[in-house]
Amino acid sequence: MCGIAVDGNKKTTTEDDGKIVLIKKKGKVKALDEELYKKDCMDLEVELDTHFGIAHTRWATHGEPSALNSHPQRSDKNNEFVVIHNGIITNYKELKKYLNSKGYEFESETDTEVIPKLIKYVYDNRERDDMSFSTLVERVIQQLEGAFALVFKSHYFPGEAVATRRGSPLLIGVRSKYELSAEHIPIQYNSAPYYSFLRDCAVIPVFTERQGAAEPVGLLKEGVQDKNSHNRPDKPDKSTAVNSAGDGKAVEYYFASDASAIIEHTNKVIYLEDDDIAAVVGGKLSLHRVNSLAGEDSVRAIQTLQMELQEIMKGNFEAFMQKEIFEQPESVFNTMRGRICFHTNKVILGGLKDHLKEIKRCRRLIMIGCGTSFHAAVATRQILEELTELPVMVELASDFLDRNTPVFRDDVCFYISQSGETADTLMALRYCKDRGALTVGVTNTVGSSISRDTDCGVHINAGPEIGVASTKAYTSQFVALIMFGLMMSEDRISLQPRRLEIINGLKILPDMIKNVLTLDNKIKSIADELYQQKSLLVMGRGFNYATCLEGALKIKEITYMHSEGILAGELKHGPLALIDKHMPVIMIIMKDACYTKCQNALQQVTARSGRPIILCCQDDQEMSENAYKTIELPHTVDCLQGILSVIPLQLLSFHLAVLRGYDVDCPRNLAKSVTVE
Ligand code: AGP
Repeated sequence: MCGIAVDGNKKTTTEDDGKIVLIKKKGKVKALDEELYKKDCMDLEVELDTHFGIAHTRWATHGEPSALNSHPQRSDKNNEFVVIHNGIITNYKELKKYLNSKGYEFESETDTEVIPKLIKYVYDNRERDDMSFSTLVERVIQQLEGAFALVFKSHYFPGEAVATRRGSPLLIGVRSKYELSAEHIPIQYNSAPYYSFLRDCAVIPVFTERQGAAEPVGLLKEGVQDKNSHNRPDKPDKSTAVNSAGDGKAVEYYFASDASAIIEHTNKVIYLEDDDIAAVVGGKLSLHRVNSLAGEDSVRAIQTLQMELQEIMKGNFEAFMQKEIFEQPESVFNTMRGRICFHTNKVILGGLKDHLKEIKRCRRLIMIGCGTSFHAAVATRQILEELTELPVMVELASDFLDRNTPVFRDDVCFYISQSGETADTLMALRYCKDRGALTVGVTNTVGSSISRDTDCGVHINAGPEIGVASTKAYTSQFVALIMFGLMMSEDRISLQPRRLEIINGLKILPDMIKNVLTLDNKIKSIADELYQQKSLLVMGRGFNYATCLEGALKIKEITYMHSEGILAGELKHGPLALIDKHMPVIMIIMKDACYTKCQNALQQVTARSGRPIILCCQDDQEMSENAYKTIELPHTVDCLQGILSVIPLQLLSFHLAVLRGYDVDCPRNLAKSVTVE
């Protein structure tokens, strides 16, 4: 579902004057686009000097997918204030109750709707007529709990934009034909006396028992005079408001949660920090905060992104996911580029080298992530235990937090995340930071919250990943973690032959991936046979167990078939009951230390008339004889084999989803960045 709010520029009645036009649709952006062209209150041919619009696509967190539950959410039927929101407001029920009691009526089931209602409430009860838009927003966010990136538009402040964030990502793209006159934007601090006002009127609704009923007694008391209001600059101060291209020169500002959304317009971006408030007034951008924190930067840099537009274009591929699968020879190469010297067998991860001594002294490594990123941790755990000689725990971020897992100062915690914004992983990061552990980010997104909030880290450099189903980020996370193991073991004499074997394997990995990708037609023909099935089991063990989990996740995520990754060693403890001649089973049986054990599992399956499709090494005669079908892969070092074995499953899930008629890049109910807990 999606929606847009823009200024109506064609008067059909006098009431339309200055009104914000709000169009929302259930379904795809295309439907919204068509609707937009039908509106007679807008002349889309007119060229405007200043215009500010907001738009949003979302998945349903609160309420069913519907136009009413889409964003922008509005303050009232006249669209006086409209807001788009990423994140989640955890105290929305209390706020809603309070606003209801003040006569504000709600129309959606979203948590977000309290925000436009709240800003209208603040506006309706403002103590001065000249209160700025950003001050209203500042007051609103003082009441909000949870995570948010917000952009506001108001009919009372034409052409003005205000945006803010806490916990959810937000960046501003700056575009101008002229060279920007500044490299950073200074932060304007509102003076502390603001808090004296807040003390008067309780920031968070406080409930007291009064005559048996719980009633809010606080939340921005109407009519309270802010005695210190003259201390707070309500209009952006000229010295700190920046028209980045210099006076009189047109500038465009884009607010987005992700750089890939704006890269086609500009590569100049400013990443906002929690509680920053950005306002564009009269074409000038200013940034401010309620007060400064010790050691905090007093400016926000305008950064130049290296991302290329073509990196986020689909080209000749049917879907981004397909493009990203086929990019893997280059993306894994880019993960290694400049970090592995194949002449000296040295591995240097620049972001970790200063912390290496400390990491080597730690008591254990804890690898934390969600979904595919968690699987990258599972995939590399064994080799990291071998190369670092440290205990390695792998943790799903949500479960790690649910358990209040003990974490100590001498732990080193890795946060693996493609987006760098996953809420569960971010919360786990904050949890471990509070306990004094060294934190290491492994992300694909420069400037993301995880990459900024960790002590050190590795950028996997896989390039933008657009498809919701993660593919190239997985193989690059895999390679990055192996490189970490290689770096840690550089001075262990006994491990040198093993290191060398792995480094040589990494050297030819991109070519081997190319080789695996040539199997695409064969995999498509297997998909033709399987796409009407309800369920698909993926079985393996040892270094290939993670491939089973990841393959099954890809299949369920985009094909909506039931799929389960099964540890072959667990077969006789339950899953064997599922096996008969009708149940499709994929088995991963590579020539490694688990080969014989996997053969046993295969026998168990064939003895029950199962018809396994086996991913095996090229020329494995025995497998060909026992399989219903084989997918033969080049043989590599055991700990790298999972990079090759996951690719056929990525391709299979893609073809299955296409055959079943689903949108590969935007599976139902899922989002690329999961910024809510
Ligand atoms: C993978 O295909 C999924 N879309 C999902 O499991 C994803 O890996 C997970 O949400 C974690 O995301 P992150 O890597 O951006 O933290």
